Amino acid sequence: MSAPIDATATSAWTELDAHRSAFQPDLRGWFASDPDRVGKLSFTLADLHVDLSKNLVTDAVLASLVKLAEETGVPERYAAMLEGDHINTTEDRAVLHTALRRPPGASPALTVDGQDVDHDVQAVLEAMDAFAERVRSGDWRGVTGKKVETVVNIGIGGSDLGPYMIFEALKPYADAGITARFVSNIDPADIALKTADLDPETTLFIVASKTFTTLETLTNARLARDWLWAGLEASGAISSSDDDRTNAVAHHFVAVSTALDKVAAFGIDTANAFGFWDWVGGRYSVDSAIGLSLVITLGPEAFRELLAGFHAVDEHVANTPLAQNVPVLMGLLNVWYTNFLDAQTHAVLPYAQQLHRFAAYLQQLTMESNGKSVRWDGSPVTTGTGEVFWGEPGTNGQHAFYQLIHQGTRLIPADFIAFVNPAFPLSSDGRDVHGLFLANFLAQTKALAFGKTAEEVEAEGTTGALVAARTFPGNRPTTSIFAAALTPRVLGELIALYEHITFTQGVIWGINSFDQWGVELGKQLALQIAPALEGDADAAAAQDASTRALLEYYKANRTV
Ligand code: F6P
Repeated sequence: MSAPIDATATSAWTELDAHRSAFQPDLRGWFASDPDRVGKLSFTLADLHVDLSKNLVTDAVLASLVKLAEETGVPERYAAMLEGDHINTTEDRAVLHTALRRPPGASPALTVDGQDVDHDVQAVLEAMDAFAERVRSGDWRGVTGKKVETVVNIGIGGSDLGPYMIFEALKPYADAGITARFVSNIDPADIALKTADLDPETTLFIVASKTFTTLETLTNARLARDWLWAGLEASGAISSSDDDRTNAVAHHFVAVSTALDKVAAFGIDTANAFGFWDWVGGRYSVDSAIGLSLVITLGPEAFRELLAGFHAVDEHVANTPLAQNVPVLMGLLNVWYTNFLDAQTHAVLPYAQQLHRFAAYLQQLTMESNGKSVRWDGSPVTTGTGEVFWGEPGTNGQHAFYQLIHQGTRLIPADFIAFVNPAFPLSSDGRDVHGLFLANFLAQTKALAFGKTAEEVEAEGTTGALVAARTFPGNRPTTSIFAAALTPRVLGELIALYEHITFTQGVIWGINSFDQWGVELGKQLALQIAPALEGDADAAAAQDASTRALLEYYKANRTV
């Protein structure tokens, strides 16, 4: 694997430094002096209309950013990923989530490390479809013969955030009378509350774990199994014999994993397990078998549409020159803001309540991918990396944190995502509510970009100290992503867009965006500390002073 190119040593970086030192953001002036600005900076990305015009860039800055992508080898690295090179260097793995959404019969065929990737991907998809159809039609039944009404996905991180986010986003497509719940946290409140009102006879658990070693997931899976047995035994549906219990698990548990041996060891029949491969990173896995809960609830057709959306964006990235390549441009803008304009965070603000888990999903995608201090050859990074992603749907955020974005001292680039057509076309007082909603999206991006000058405030009759308080500086950068409707295809496009933005930034920073060693230490320490909470005095004594004091507090106050 070639060494990362130090972005700071490129001529583009020198140019960008020069732009930065003379930089005077002036969106009002730029819009006034360049009638073509919106046209030049608006793009069609599959079904998405992407307007970059309200970003803090001039033509010259943009040209240097595109040059930066060239000089740091973004296209070459992307090609290496698609060809199955082991660009995940620390785990010596290929990175092939893009293969999960190649259409059947894609050509040329993709064979990597001796594996016929296309064949294997299609085989699992077909198995998922067939299983989902059985559940949806009622052919698959619980141990007492009842149809499944609720699917409970047990997983965490990439084995939870994607399916959960998409289910919430596409709920209107759930057409088979089957709903889904998502249990992730090892906090027992999660599974207790999410199973409290469920009927074991109509519940199907999907244990989703790439490694099938994750403490949270295996603990919750055991709790779910105990809950199932207890419920069925209490109603007399089964006895407590080993045979009855095994039979109940066979009817109410399926699994998704790359480690089918561990699935079997847990007691789930591998005939009811769906596999994927080590070249799919957890946070890139929602379009693998990890999406099984979606195929069941939304249907195979909707899931294929989702994959088609992903693929459309993959094709755009692979075949579009850098200067028109939307994910690359958005990644470059993030680099500009992070490394040159000192932005620390990035807001994602969907004007779609159904996308209320989108920011949480993106947090894993972006921050687990690019929250790194070393490059892919182990050398220290030469730039700042990994901005903090956060957000909430509008208009709720408007009444919470937008104040800081409008008038605070920090630069917070923000992505606004909106849809022309509502999933629920309601009116109130004779007015289209979705229209009122979208007026807020348009108003916010306008206010952030162009602000309100002191003269404008005064012209409205305000005087004295209030003038400053009511002045909006503007020049707060936003990207507007607009689409006709929140469909499975459009959602696939949106997710793939952010995957490729993340990748672009990772390449420029020289990062391996596909490992996550930073989560390991906490996992190891939790296992060491757990015995101390169970009363092991030696384990408690081995801790640092602060941890010991916290354990003492725990001991003194635990009452249940
Ligand atoms: O702890 C981080 C992580 O490894 C994520 O990358 C992953 O998505 C999550 O844990 C869950 O892992 P698994 O699917 O193997 O249970």
